[in-house]
Amino acid sequence: MPKPFDLNNVTDYRRWRQWKLAQIPVDAERLLVSLVEPQALRPDEKQALVTCCRDHNMVIYALPEKHTDKTLVHAIGQQLGLVRMDTNLRADEDSVTSLEVRAQDGNQYIPYTDKPLSWHTDGYYNTSAQQVRAIIMHCVQPAASGGVNQLLDPEMLYIRLRDENPSWIAALMHPEAMIIPANIEHEVEIRGAQSGPVFSVDPGSGCLHMRYSARKRNIVWRDDDATLAAAQRISELLADSEMVIEHRLQAGQGIICNNVLHNRSGFDDSAEQRRLMYRARYYDRVVDTGLAPIGA
Ligand SMILES: [Fe+2]
Repeated sequence: MPKPFDLNNVTDYRRWRQWKLAQIPVDAERLLVSLVEPQALRPDEKQALVTCCRDHNMVIYALPEKHTDKTLVHAIGQQLGLVRMDTNLRADEDSVTSLEVRAQDGNQYIPYTDKPLSWHTDGYYNTSAQQVRAIIMHCVQPAASGGVNQLLDPEMLYIRLRDENPSWIAALMHPEAMIIPANIEHEVEIRGAQSGPVFSVDPGSGCLHMRYSARKRNIVWRDDDATLAAAQRISELLADSEMVIEHRLQAGQGIICNNVLHNRSGFDDSAEQRRLMYRARYYDRVVDTGLAPIGA
């Protein structure tokens, strides 16, 4: 298996980097794949989804019309090798979370409000054994206004950082690079503190995995110069509009991704139009999105 994410393996990194930089999408339009029959994908539809995910770690599908049935998310996932689901504190019984503005007891989780959500990968507070490797987010209905996502393939960020300063990559791969303090609700610890690397290599596929949150309040960075400088550089690159892709999901559209970096702008619901997304998280990566293009 090639090792492009091993700092000592410059040959594999250069080969992979050359392949990767030939795949840059200019905008969200190039990530769009129309699906006619999402419950039973045609071979060409499945191929288009997988190829886009392999090249960019994300794809945006578009159905012919609005789709409100949650089983659709399971069906799309299963056809793309996404079966091992992560549940979270607020997930529904079927492990698919309905993201909408709702009244919350205890801690207020921003995903269930209309406030902006800062840059993150999903499940950054999970244990190393339960890392979220893929996400499907299906738009049942967009907000009356706002609710725009920005997206960035972590591999593109990795290339920028490694080219600028490889010691930043070493710092970000340290097992205690980023620490998430315990989650305490009503004075009870409902999740212990979690430390882990920002960048790691998925042992199954050899692919890059990223764990990140831009939240200042709930993150403690390892206190060394390279880590703090790298975290600062990540913030700068995420603010660079040349680097990121922007898209506002329409009804019947959805994002399938290998847990890329994303954020969401604030939004306004109206009485007639309330934002509703279905979101599923998986421990699997999208099928056939490994290092094959460079000869795995
Ligand atoms: Fe998220």
